[in-house]
Amino acid sequence: MSFMYICLEGIDGAGKSTQVKLIKQWLDDMGYDVELLVEPTSSPVGILIRKMLQNPKATDSDFQKTLGLLFAADRMILKDKIEKTDEKRILISDRCFYSSMAYQNHLEWIKEINRFAKKPDMVILLDIDEKTAVSRCQGTDKFENETFLKKVRHNYLKMAKKEGFIIIDATNGVKLIHHDLKKALASNLGICDGGIID
Ligand code: TYD
Repeated sequence: MSFMYICLEGIDGAGKSTQVKLIKQWLDDMGYDVELLVEPTSSPVGILIRKMLQNPKATDSDFQKTLGLLFAADRMILKDKIEKTDEKRILISDRCFYSSMAYQNHLEWIKEINRFAKKPDMVILLDIDEKTAVSRCQGTDKFENETFLKKVRHNYLKMAKKEGFIIIDATNGVKLIHHDLKKALASNLGICDGGIID
């Protein structure tokens, strides 16, 4: 198998961070060379972003534009890592530029400032309603509110249709989501895994 860049997307509380770790473990155990990425990163730009996400104005339109630029800058820092496509490895990313398109909203402009970001080979959307999602959130980020996440979810579902994302129901428990993810990945990566039971 050649290089593969897989991205998990979804609103806050969808359970992406738990699932990317479980998927890495599963693929590691089968002997694949797997690397995890998380956006925002732990670069100085990523640290600044995390601070700014606490600001009460975080969902305001102008603030969102500033964040959009910072997310794009943070993504540029990852570029080299993502583009070493000559190696036989699987890169799994917790978010990518599609997060900016769903959260920051100004589609054409977001596309333009992310023009140099690599498009994932596969995008999996962990879909969950905003109410359940917020009840799972424990953070203090200002994005973690129902009204805002409802709009973000709507944007994700629209994009999923247009871009052909794989959609997985993330209201299920951790084990069932993991099972569904393995099934989706196995068929797309050509993995024959005896551990997957329907
Ligand atoms: P998240 O994955 O939720 O991190 P954590 O679980 O550690 O808080 O990401 C932080 C927030 O950043 C989340 O609300 C989504 C948001 N975000 C954007 O708005 N645009 C982007 O481009 C990215 C990558 C994230």
